[in-house]
Amino acid sequence: MNRQITLASRPVGYPKESDFNLVEAPMPTPGDGEVLVRTIYLSVDPYMRGRINATKSYAANVEIDEVMIGSVIAEVITTKHPDFKVGDIVNAGIGWQEYGVAAGDGLRKIDPTIAPISASGGILGMPGLTAYFGLLEVGKLQERETVFVSGAAGAVGSVVGQIAKIKGCRVVGSAGTDEKVAYVVDELGFDAAFNYKEVDDYNDELQRLLPDGIDVYFDNVGGSITDAVFPNLRIKGRVAICGQISQYNLEKPEMGPRFLWFMITKRARIEGFLVSEYADQHAEALVEMAGWLREGKLKYRETIEEGGIENAPAAFISMLKGGNIGKQLVKIADLSS
Ligand SMILES: NC(=O)c1ccc[n+]([C@@H]2O[C@H](COP(=O)([O-])OP(=O)(O)OC[C@H]3O[C@@H](n4cnc5c(N)ncnc54)[C@H](OP(=O)(O)O)[C@@H]3O)[C@@H](O)[C@H]2O)c1
Repeated sequence: MNRQITLASRPVGYPKESDFNLVEAPMPTPGDGEVLVRTIYLSVDPYMRGRINATKSYAANVEIDEVMIGSVIAEVITTKHPDFKVGDIVNAGIGWQEYGVAAGDGLRKIDPTIAPISASGGILGMPGLTAYFGLLEVGKLQERETVFVSGAAGAVGSVVGQIAKIKGCRVVGSAGTDEKVAYVVDELGFDAAFNYKEVDDYNDELQRLLPDGIDVYFDNVGGSITDAVFPNLRIKGRVAICGQISQYNLEKPEMGPRFLWFMITKRARIEGFLVSEYADQHAEALVEMAGWLREGKLKYRETIEEGGIENAPAAFISMLKGGNIGKQLVKIADLSS
């Protein structure tokens, strides 16, 4: 039998484990052009929170009793596609389940010789690519500029800061614990960081750490940290809106200060983006990222919940509350030897 996590109810505020069900289902069988895969790691990501709401946003929502959406790192165990053989490692969008069928066309094959396969869910996967395109294409980062990134110790933010350092920039980050602050400064080479839960006035803190202002703000969190950035932008500053996680679990929308005046006086630019927009450039970017990883210019950590598919909801909730450093994954099974 296959085991799956389905949506039991739409969360109000932070999701609870009772919003999910663990169910058994018959083992799926692949048709022509498809492969059957066994999940090794399952990825839990902030975007999933928006997809279990009643209100539809940019993509289809998960319906009640449907399998939770998501991407897994998996091994091929049966193949009906000429490009795949048994034992190949792939990224597949089969959702939160132990086994799934995926169309071979468009399936991403993972080279396990570059890095441990888990990296394809983080630094060499969607979060790493988000950092790369958000900073370089949307933020239009130039050498020796100043960068501020919120959510700095997470899967995306930790890569943003490191790419900015590769480009010779000064980088400051914000994160939610002292351990995360120490991690990004001491291990990842950020110039400075602050624990946003311990700081009363974000404007003062930004002026202290970035006295000459911010050229590029990479926004992972939104809310009052982001509000404080606008007066601190430099002339022609850029704001790349990647995520707004501080808002995802609110029961009532927050009202913030009105900052558009600063967009005028700073002649600044603000742009939201989705990493999927750059899909035709992902493969090329991954080659560059893998090179930086090999040269030791990029480092990464992962937070791996070991407990199997039944622990996916707990890992998801923990990530939303800041329990992770680097990419949050759930280990579902060992690779076949
Ligand atoms: N645009 C795109 O294509 C795209 C793609 C991927 C991800 N994203 C977005 O990028 C952001 C980061 O994603 P990720 O995968 O790298 O997740 P992540 O940072 O690894 O994990 C989420 C982190 O958010 C932080 N957080 C939670 N509540 C917060 C709050 N109220 N205020 C500030 N920080 C809070 C927590 O860290 P702390 O301990 O620091 O609070 C938590 O560890 C998310 O907003 C996500 O939606 C966008």
